[in-house]
Amino acid sequence: MHISRIRIKNWRNFRHAEVKGISDVVYLLGPNASGKSNFLDVMRFLRDLGKSKGGGLQEAVEGRGGISKIRCLHARKDTEVLIDIDVIDESRKTGWNYIIGFNIPSSGFEKSRRVFVTKEVVNKIAECGVVENVINRPNDEDINDEYQRQQTYIEQINSNREFRGLADFFGSITYYHLVPQLLKFGDEISGRTIEDDPFGQEFLLRVSATQERTRNSRLKKIEKALQKIVPQMEDLRFLKDEVTGRPHLEIKFKHHRPRGARQREDQFSDGTLRLIALFWMLQETSDAPLLLEEPELSLNEEVVRSLSHQIGSVRRKRSGGSGRQIFISTHSYALLSNPGIDSDGIIIIEPSDDGSSTRKVSEDEKAALSAGLSPAEAVLPNARGIPLGGQFKLDL
Ligand SMILES: Nc1ncnc2c1ncn2[C@@H]1O[C@H](COP(=O)(O)OP(=O)(O)O)[C@@H](O)[C@H]1O
Ligand SMILES: [Mg+2]
Repeated sequence: MHISRIRIKNWRNFRHAEVKGISDVVYLLGPNASGKSNFLDVMRFLRDLGKSKGGGLQEAVEGRGGISKIRCLHARKDTEVLIDIDVIDESRKTGWNYIIGFNIPSSGFEKSRRVFVTKEVVNKIAECGVVENVINRPNDEDINDEYQRQQTYIEQINSNREFRGLADFFGSITYYHLVPQLLKFGDEISGRTIEDDPFGQEFLLRVSATQERTRNSRLKKIEKALQKIVPQMEDLRFLKDEVTGRPHLEIKFKHHRPRGARQREDQFSDGTLRLIALFWMLQETSDAPLLLEEPELSLNEEVVRSLSHQIGSVRRKRSGGSGRQIFISTHSYALLSNPGIDSDGIIIIEPSDDGSSTRKVSEDEKAALSAGLSPAEAVLPNARGIPLGGQFKLDL
């Protein structure tokens, strides 16, 4: 299944935005602070509603510092935050439309200041585009018991029976943004791990929790890919520390010593660590999207240049070409320098004083792309904060 349309209202720095016809591989372009991460956060939010452990509306909002952090600062009279999303099974053209709106009550509930559901709609999209309404809240139950409105139906197993597939889909959305320093110095920084987002040591826990056979086969493939980039590398393996029992990755390097030199993850280069995690995530099997936050970070240009090809080929190899949907936030020229990138997959985020808006590729840009230019040449210059040829100067 894949996300084919997203509409948001009052979400972070977007007052209104709607993207239709979303492809399987999506590139989110925009200058710094335009809202790329905020856009990805829409999907992480849905993941937080649908996840099987500790999910739900209140947690999802509190985890983001409360509704005041989520709601667009440019919001006017209408202060409701709303997400409206279509999830479609490409082959069967069936799927779901889900709408969730929430707000802080202006009266009642005051004591708790907990957010409440202003709207929750589940529509089932059948073949031939016939839409059947399954849930439409607020409903009679909500009116009889206002407290029900503190929870969504998507998070409640008693209420989501008819659309559990959708809840599971949301719950399986995965976000990748490995921060090498968190992995290397996790203990020094904090003992806390965030299980759902593999930023640091959780990544190793994820590797550790994978069945041995699958794990070994994935690591073997990563090893082969990495050897092209780090030729001295001989062997990438997973192990548990004999004393502490903690999971580690280890690389053997060719070395003048007969047994070679072994290094653990805290000695890997940042780029190597990020590549290992990226290649791992790309191999995870799931029906739900993978969100890649600026995969270009810490990597040299040569490698970044090849990333879009690699991502494409991994997708094609998996499940007959209908691998999972991938959203990539980036502003890397090298990443977008592949002329083969599907122009339908490009979403441009444009900031303004009144919040950001989204757009797809324009007719002019499309013409340039079909003439053989890459998105880096045809689109990126129009998606930069600093005009082409302009200069960024810091007066200190
Ligand atoms: N609730 C909000 N209302 C308005 N702007 C917001 C809100 N939350 C975050 N922002 C703004 O969004 C911008 C950050 O967007 P972000 O998605 O991190 O950018 P990018 O990933 O494109 O660099 C910041 O300028 C931040 O101030
Ligand atoms: Mg960002």
